[in-house]
Amino acid sequence: MEFKFLLPTKVVMEPGLRERTGEHLRELGLERILIVTDAGVKAAGLLNGVYASLEKTGIAFDEISDVKANPRSEDINHVAQMYRGKGIDGLLAVGGGSAMDAAKAISLLLTHEGRIEDYEGSFTLKHAIPPIVAIPTTAGTGSEVTCFSVITDTARHFKMNVLDYRIGPVLALLDSHITNTLPSSIAAATGMDALTHAIEAYTCRVSNPISDGLALHAIRLISEHLKAAVQAPDNQQAREQMLVASLIAGMAFGNADVGSVHCISEAIGGMYDTPHGVGNAIFLPFVFGHNRDADIVRHAQVAYALGIDPTLSPVDAAEAAVGRLFQMSKDLGIPRFAEVRGVREEDFLTIAEKSKQNFSDASNAKAMSVQAYHDIITTAYKFVA
Ligand SMILES: [Fe+2]
Repeated sequence: MEFKFLLPTKVVMEPGLRERTGEHLRELGLERILIVTDAGVKAAGLLNGVYASLEKTGIAFDEISDVKANPRSEDINHVAQMYRGKGIDGLLAVGGGSAMDAAKAISLLLTHEGRIEDYEGSFTLKHAIPPIVAIPTTAGTGSEVTCFSVITDTARHFKMNVLDYRIGPVLALLDSHITNTLPSSIAAATGMDALTHAIEAYTCRVSNPISDGLALHAIRLISEHLKAAVQAPDNQQAREQMLVASLIAGMAFGNADVGSVHCISEAIGGMYDTPHGVGNAIFLPFVFGHNRDADIVRHAQVAYALGIDPTLSPVDAAEAAVGRLFQMSKDLGIPRFAEVRGVREEDFLTIAEKSKQNFSDASNAKAMSVQAYHDIITTAYKFVA
């Protein structure tokens, strides 16, 4: 057996923790930071406790508050140009995966020349970058503990990956109060993203014993708490458990990989701007069903963690899990693929080709061809719940 497991992130969880952000940044020796967030987070007032804390501890800050979903390379390059050489010694990402991935990419470019496109792939960094602190406002991405940044290359309409241990946040501050105002549709989509991370981390070809344990626990937590977190937003315990589960799933896939669900979701995200979690939720049952005979025991373990009857045989349990995954998406109001804005049948071959080009294609439980991707995409399009 050979594997590596790395977690560069200190994790602190406490209700209301964002009001102590400044103390934690001071501990890291930070004096002038760049806040990276999005308009929705700012409008919801989620930064108010953060600002007060920074002022109280004397930490100077600038702010980028217009990060879009599926952050674009041209925006990242523009922001980096503005802040290079301005004495920024750390970044504070407050938001979902888009804000955190943007902060990672901006931080990289503060100490590296060129454009973010120049750093696509694995271990392309030359030296250290300013530390990143993350306050996740959604329970899904896990980006607060991963060493990936996913950025849409505007010219190619392609979501590219930057992977390096140095872009992993040094500190994740989990404040369960921050998800109280999360809209139900976002809680649903991001929660299904977290579930996809856990399932793909467990079933992919590059899992390891540590990621396996984390992934199965995350699947159990999400199976137990996601529906309540979406449908009863005042259920504090469910929202708290989802925040923990998404972080655990992030630790799992960050040290294993994802698979073909993410390959397809990132392809359609790059083309149609489909929310990442929606894309994953749509394709998860189809890819799980396609993959299951590649390792029926592992797919059955996922099924049992989802709450499928443990007395069922592995084949029957995996079959039942496909139905459970369809039902979860339906209960959470996830649209069907045919309902996604902008989708056109004439794009399906391009989506299949882009999926095949994805960094994580090789990690999928079953070897995938462009034709196999095309078949799954076509089946999903024709699917009627
Ligand atoms: Fe994801």
